[in-house]
Amino acid sequence: MLEVNGLRVAYGGIQAVRGITFHVREGEMVALIGANGAGKSSTLRALARLLDPAGGNVRYRGQEIQTLPAHRLVEQGIALVPEGRGVFPRMSCLENLRMGAYSRNDRREVDNDLDHVLGHFPRLKERAQQLAGTLSGGEQQMLAIGRALMSRPKLLLLDEPSMGLAPIMVQKIFQVIRDIAAEGMTILLVEQNAKLALEVSQRGYVMESGQITVSDESSRLLADPKVRAAYLGE
Ligand SMILES: Nc1ncnc2c1ncn2[C@@H]1O[C@H](COP(=O)(O)OP(=O)(O)OP(=O)(O)O)[C@@H](O)[C@H]1O
Ligand SMILES: [Mg+2]
Repeated sequence: MLEVNGLRVAYGGIQAVRGITFHVREGEMVALIGANGAGKSSTLRALARLLDPAGGNVRYRGQEIQTLPAHRLVEQGIALVPEGRGVFPRMSCLENLRMGAYSRNDRREVDNDLDHVLGHFPRLKERAQQLAGTLSGGEQQMLAIGRALMSRPKLLLLDEPSMGLAPIMVQKIFQVIRDIAAEGMTILLVEQNAKLALEVSQRGYVMESGQITVSDESSRLLADPKVRAAYLGE
Protein backbone atom coordinates (compact mmCIF):
# COMPACT_ATOMS: atom_id res chain seq x y z
CA MET A 1 0.00 0.00 0.00
CA LEU A 2 2.84 2.36 0.89
CA GLU A 3 6.41 2.21 -0.40
CA VAL A 4 8.84 4.81 0.88
CA ASN A 5 12.21 5.01 -0.80
CA GLY A 6 15.11 7.16 0.40
CA LEU A 7 12.84 9.75 2.01
CA ARG A 8 14.67 12.81 3.30
CA VAL A 9 13.42 15.77 5.33
CA ALA A 10 15.48 18.84 6.17
CA TYR A 11 14.74 21.98 8.14
CA GLY A 12 17.20 24.50 6.77
CA GLY A 13 20.57 22.91 7.52
CA ILE A 14 19.16 20.29 9.90
CA GLN A 15 18.74 16.86 8.36
CA ALA A 16 15.85 15.36 10.31
CA VAL A 17 15.22 12.31 8.07
CA ARG A 18 18.26 10.95 6.23
CA GLY A 19 17.05 8.72 3.45
CA ILE A 20 14.74 6.11 4.94
CA THR A 21 13.21 3.16 3.10
CA PHE A 22 10.28 1.16 4.39
CA HIS A 23 6.90 -0.18 3.35
CA VAL A 24 3.44 -0.93 4.69
CA ARG A 25 1.32 -3.70 3.19
CA GLU A 26 -2.43 -3.50 2.81
CA GLY A 27 -4.18 -4.44 6.06
CA GLU A 28 -0.99 -4.27 8.10
CA MET A 29 -0.27 -2.30 11.24
CA VAL A 30 3.36 -1.18 11.20
CA ALA A 31 5.08 0.60 14.09
CA LEU A 32 7.74 3.28 13.73
CA ILE A 33 9.48 3.68 17.07
CA GLY A 34 12.41 5.75 18.28
CA ALA A 35 13.58 8.29 20.83
CA ASN A 36 12.76 12.02 20.96
CA GLY A 37 13.97 13.80 17.86
CA ALA A 38 14.58 10.63 15.86
CA GLY A 39 12.53 12.02 12.96
CA LYS A 40 9.28 10.07 13.35
CA SER A 41 6.89 13.02 13.14
CA SER A 42 8.90 14.55 10.31
CA THR A 43 8.43 11.29 8.41
CA LEU A 44 4.66 11.30 8.89
CA ARG A 45 4.38 14.99 8.06
CA ALA A 46 6.32 14.43 4.84
CA LEU A 47 4.08 11.47 3.93
CA ALA A 48 0.96 13.57 4.50
CA ARG A 49 2.65 16.42 2.58
CA LEU A 50 2.41 18.89 5.43
CA LEU A 51 6.00 19.60 4.47
CA ASP A 52 8.04 19.14 1.31
CA PRO A 53 10.41 16.18 1.40
CA ALA A 54 14.02 17.05 0.55
CA GLY A 55 14.35 13.85 -1.45
CA GLY A 56 13.23 10.31 -2.08
CA ASN A 57 9.99 8.98 -3.43
CA VAL A 58 6.75 7.67 -2.02
CA ARG A 59 4.42 5.26 -3.77
CA TYR A 60 0.89 4.78 -2.51
CA ARG A 61 -1.17 2.02 -4.08
CA GLY A 62 1.27 1.93 -6.96
CA GLN A 63 1.23 5.65 -7.69
CA GLU A 64 3.95 8.23 -6.96
CA ILE A 65 2.51 10.75 -4.55
CA GLN A 66 5.39 12.84 -3.25
CA THR A 67 4.37 15.81 -5.40
CA LEU A 68 0.63 15.73 -4.64
CA PRO A 69 -0.74 18.41 -2.30
CA ALA A 70 -2.06 17.40 1.13
CA HIS A 71 -5.77 17.75 0.28
CA ARG A 72 -5.38 15.43 -2.72
CA LEU A 73 -3.83 12.81 -0.45
CA VAL A 74 -6.81 13.05 1.89
CA GLU A 75 -9.11 12.45 -1.10
CA GLN A 76 -7.00 9.44 -2.08
CA GLY A 77 -7.35 7.94 1.37
CA ILE A 78 -4.37 9.02 3.46
CA ALA A 79 -5.29 10.52 6.84
CA LEU A 80 -2.90 11.83 9.47
CA VAL A 81 -3.73 12.07 13.17
CA PRO A 82 -1.07 14.59 14.14
CA GLU A 83 1.03 14.65 17.28
CA GLY A 84 -0.78 16.92 19.74
CA ARG A 85 -4.15 16.07 18.11
CA GLY A 86 -4.90 19.42 16.43
CA VAL A 87 -8.64 19.46 17.06
CA PHE A 88 -10.50 22.71 16.34
CA PRO A 89 -11.00 24.00 19.91
CA ARG A 90 -13.93 26.35 19.24
CA MET A 91 -15.93 23.82 17.30
CA SER A 92 -18.06 21.13 18.89
CA CYS A 93 -17.17 17.46 18.83
CA LEU A 94 -19.71 16.84 16.10
CA GLU A 95 -18.46 19.76 13.99
CA ASN A 96 -14.89 18.49 14.31
CA LEU A 97 -15.98 15.06 13.13
CA ARG A 98 -17.87 16.53 10.18
CA MET A 99 -14.79 18.59 9.24
CA GLY A 100 -13.02 15.28 8.71
CA ALA A 101 -15.45 14.60 5.87
CA TYR A 102 -15.08 18.02 4.21
CA SER A 103 -13.78 16.57 0.95
CA ARG A 104 -16.70 14.14 0.60
CA ASN A 105 -20.10 14.85 -0.93
CA ASP A 106 -21.81 11.51 -0.25
CA ARG A 107 -23.97 12.87 2.57
CA ARG A 108 -25.80 9.71 3.49
CA GLU A 109 -22.54 7.75 3.66
CA VAL A 110 -21.03 10.50 5.81
CA ASP A 111 -23.94 10.13 8.25
CA ASN A 112 -23.40 6.37 8.33
CA ASP A 113 -19.70 6.85 9.00
CA LEU A 114 -20.50 9.32 11.77
CA ASP A 115 -22.63 6.65 13.47
CA HIS A 116 -19.83 4.14 13.00
CA VAL A 117 -17.20 6.47 14.49
CA LEU A 118 -19.44 7.34 17.44
CA GLY A 119 -19.88 3.59 17.92
CA HIS A 120 -16.12 3.31 18.40
CA PHE A 121 -16.12 6.29 20.76
CA PRO A 122 -19.30 6.37 22.89
CA ARG A 123 -17.62 9.06 25.01
CA LEU A 124 -17.70 11.42 22.04
CA LYS A 125 -21.38 10.71 21.50
CA GLU A 126 -22.11 11.87 25.07
CA ARG A 127 -20.11 15.02 24.36
CA ALA A 128 -21.34 15.68 20.82
CA GLN A 129 -22.20 19.35 21.44
CA GLN A 130 -19.26 20.13 23.75
CA LEU A 131 -16.54 22.45 22.43
CA ALA A 132 -13.48 20.40 21.52
CA GLY A 133 -11.16 22.75 23.42
CA THR A 134 -12.89 21.80 26.69
CA LEU A 135 -12.48 18.04 26.21
CA SER A 136 -9.91 16.10 28.23
CA GLY A 137 -6.66 15.10 26.53
CA GLY A 138 -7.88 11.55 26.04
CA GLU A 139 -11.18 12.72 24.60
CA GLN A 140 -9.34 15.04 22.22
CA GLN A 141 -7.22 12.11 21.08
CA MET A 142 -10.40 10.12 20.42
CA LEU A 143 -11.78 13.08 18.50
CA ALA A 144 -8.63 13.44 16.41
CA ILE A 145 -8.79 9.75 15.46
CA GLY A 146 -12.53 9.98 14.82
CA ARG A 147 -12.07 13.01 12.61
CA ALA A 148 -9.43 11.20 10.57
CA LEU A 149 -11.77 8.22 10.14
CA MET A 150 -14.45 10.56 8.79
CA SER A 151 -12.37 11.07 5.64
CA ARG A 152 -12.79 7.32 5.09
CA PRO A 153 -9.07 6.63 4.86
CA LYS A 154 -7.42 3.54 3.44
CA LEU A 155 -4.16 4.37 5.22
CA LEU A 156 -4.17 5.88 8.70
CA LEU A 157 -1.03 7.63 9.98
CA LEU A 158 -1.09 7.89 13.79
CA ASP A 159 1.43 10.13 15.55
CA GLU A 160 1.89 9.33 19.27
CA PRO A 161 -1.71 8.52 20.21
CA SER A 162 -0.62 7.65 23.77
CA MET A 163 1.23 10.91 24.42
CA GLY A 164 0.43 12.55 27.75
CA LEU A 165 -2.45 10.22 28.60
CA ALA A 166 -3.15 8.27 31.78
CA PRO A 167 -2.64 4.48 31.47
CA ILE A 168 -6.37 3.72 31.56
CA MET A 169 -7.03 6.15 28.69
CA VAL A 170 -4.09 4.72 26.74
CA GLN A 171 -5.66 1.27 27.09
CA LYS A 172 -9.00 2.57 25.80
CA ILE A 173 -7.49 4.33 22.81
CA PHE A 174 -5.35 1.35 21.88
CA GLN A 175 -8.33 -0.97 22.11
CA VAL A 176 -10.06 1.18 19.50
CA ILE A 177 -6.91 1.21 17.35
CA ARG A 178 -6.94 -2.60 17.52
CA ASP A 179 -10.63 -2.65 16.57
CA ILE A 180 -10.04 -0.33 13.61
CA ALA A 181 -7.16 -2.55 12.48
CA ALA A 182 -9.39 -5.62 12.82
CA GLU A 183 -11.87 -3.96 10.45
CA GLY A 184 -9.08 -4.04 7.85
CA MET A 185 -7.55 -0.56 8.13
CA THR A 186 -3.89 -0.18 7.15
CA ILE A 187 -2.06 1.71 9.89
CA LEU A 188 1.36 3.31 10.30
CA LEU A 189 1.76 3.91 14.03
CA VAL A 190 4.40 6.24 15.44
CA GLU A 191 4.96 5.81 19.16
CA GLN A 192 7.50 6.54 21.85
CA ASN A 193 5.73 3.87 23.90
CA ALA A 194 7.62 1.17 22.04
CA LYS A 195 6.29 -1.74 24.09
CA LEU A 196 2.69 -0.89 23.37
CA ALA A 197 3.36 -0.15 19.70
CA LEU A 198 5.17 -3.45 19.18
CA GLU A 199 2.44 -5.37 21.00
CA VAL A 200 -0.30 -4.17 18.64
CA SER A 201 1.63 -4.11 15.34
CA GLN A 202 2.81 -6.88 13.01
CA ARG A 203 6.11 -5.29 12.00
CA GLY A 204 8.24 -2.48 13.29
CA TYR A 205 11.01 -0.12 12.29
CA VAL A 206 13.39 1.52 14.73
CA MET A 207 14.45 5.07 13.88
CA GLU A 208 17.60 6.69 15.26
CA SER A 209 18.86 10.14 14.29
CA GLY A 210 16.91 10.23 11.04
CA GLN A 211 17.74 6.70 9.94
CA ILE A 212 16.11 3.30 10.20
CA THR A 213 18.54 1.09 12.09
CA VAL A 214 16.51 -2.06 12.70
CA SER A 215 13.40 -3.60 11.18
CA ASP A 216 11.69 -6.88 11.91
CA GLU A 217 8.49 -8.54 12.97
CA SER A 218 7.24 -6.79 16.07
CA SER A 219 7.34 -9.95 18.17
CA ARG A 220 11.03 -10.35 17.35
CA LEU A 221 11.79 -6.70 18.10
CA LEU A 222 10.06 -7.15 21.46
CA ALA A 223 12.42 -10.04 22.20
CA ASP A 224 15.57 -8.36 20.86
CA PRO A 225 17.97 -7.55 23.75
CA LYS A 226 19.25 -4.38 22.04
CA VAL A 227 15.75 -3.07 21.42
CA ARG A 228 14.77 -4.01 24.97
CA ALA A 229 17.76 -2.16 26.38
CA ALA A 230 17.32 0.96 24.27
CA TYR A 231 13.54 1.32 24.03
CA LEU A 232 11.82 -0.87 26.58
CA GLY A 233 13.69 0.42 29.60
CA GLU A 234 15.52 -2.80 30.44
N1 LIG B 1 9.86 22.86 12.29
C1 LIG B 1 11.11 22.46 12.58
N2 LIG B 1 12.15 23.30 12.41
C2 LIG B 1 13.42 22.91 12.69
N3 LIG B 1 13.74 21.69 13.15
C3 LIG B 1 12.75 20.83 13.35
C4 LIG B 1 11.38 21.16 13.09
N4 LIG B 1 10.61 20.10 13.40
C5 LIG B 1 11.46 19.15 13.83
N5 LIG B 1 12.74 19.57 13.81
C6 LIG B 1 13.93 18.79 14.19
O1 LIG B 1 13.96 17.61 13.44
C7 LIG B 1 14.37 16.51 14.24
C8 LIG B 1 13.31 15.42 14.20
O2 LIG B 1 12.12 15.90 14.83
P1 LIG B 1 10.78 15.05 14.85
O3 LIG B 1 9.73 15.91 15.44
O4 LIG B 1 10.53 14.47 13.52
O5 LIG B 1 11.17 13.88 15.86
P2 LIG B 1 10.27 12.78 16.56
O6 LIG B 1 10.93 11.47 16.33
O7 LIG B 1 8.87 12.92 16.14
O8 LIG B 1 10.42 13.17 18.10
P3 LIG B 1 9.37 13.05 19.32
O9 LIG B 1 9.38 11.63 19.76
O10 LIG B 1 9.95 13.96 20.38
O11 LIG B 1 8.04 13.51 18.82
C9 LIG B 1 14.62 17.08 15.63
O12 LIG B 1 15.99 17.29 15.76
C10 LIG B 1 13.86 18.39 15.64
O13 LIG B 1 14.47 19.33 16.48
MG1 LIG C 1 7.13 13.33 17.14
